[in-house]
Amino acid sequence: MEVVVHSTYDEMSAAAAKEVAKLLNTKPNAVLGLATGSTPLALYKELIRMHKHEGLDFTQVTTFNLDEYCGLSADHEQSYHYFMRENLFKHINIPLQNTHVPSGTTRNHEAFCAWYENRIKECGGIDIQILGIGSDGHIAFNEPGSSLGSRTRIKTLAKVTIDDNARFFDKPEDVPIYAITMGVGTILEARKLVLVANGESKADAIAAAIEGSVTSMITASALQLHPDSVIFLDDAAASKLKLREYYDWIQANKPGAPRPE
Ligand code: F6R
Repeated sequence: MEVVVHSTYDEMSAAAAKEVAKLLNTKPNAVLGLATGSTPLALYKELIRMHKHEGLDFTQVTTFNLDEYCGLSADHEQSYHYFMRENLFKHINIPLQNTHVPSGTTRNHEAFCAWYENRIKECGGIDIQILGIGSDGHIAFNEPGSSLGSRTRIKTLAKVTIDDNARFFDKPEDVPIYAITMGVGTILEARKLVLVANGESKADAIAAAIEGSVTSMITASALQLHPDSVIFLDDAAASKLKLREYYDWIQANKPGAPRPE
């Protein structure tokens, strides 16, 4: 697991976007796993910039989003379908039929989730999965207690997540309490995991995920089990890491990096 700390949110986001660009430049038909939320916004802005100004091409790319709220249609402004269209898809040249976001309106959750898992396999598996982290340490909507082997399913959201989301809805009763989410087991099958986190509100969850035990109580700690995961942080999100200096030292002394004279 690599921990890369940048001083600002924008620098951290640009570094994470570079990972995606590096993949697309070597594998133009890559499969990307995408996240929503406020954290990846600048990462998506940077991908859009690279598309517009550096020719980053998405015509052969396929995407799978981590999750969607149950009960919200694709045109609801708080749905993740809407988020992805507004913040990424409509600004790049990806064919919309190549994009997948779990259905917020399916009545047959079990069949839909089995189809979603199968579709990921049919497309060859996810090359890079982008992740954020919740203040309770969740990845996707795998709330504390979610099995580290869990698969795509309908999940009841934790109270803290419902409260975190309340700011986006007019009335508290409008805040969804269920979501369809990829499972931790599904996420761990991606070839590479890229988690982004910024701000002090994430510092405790980040410290627990990186330096605590692997536990279903902090599902982001499952990244410790993955052979190729990178965690991009800003200074504030990294502020509670005990080994912060060590991570910086490793970055400065990666194998193959030029040695100082
Ligand atoms: C969103 C998702 C969630 C968020 C997490 C952090 O698709 O899977 O796990 O990544 O809740 O959200 P923000 O970035 O808004 O703090």
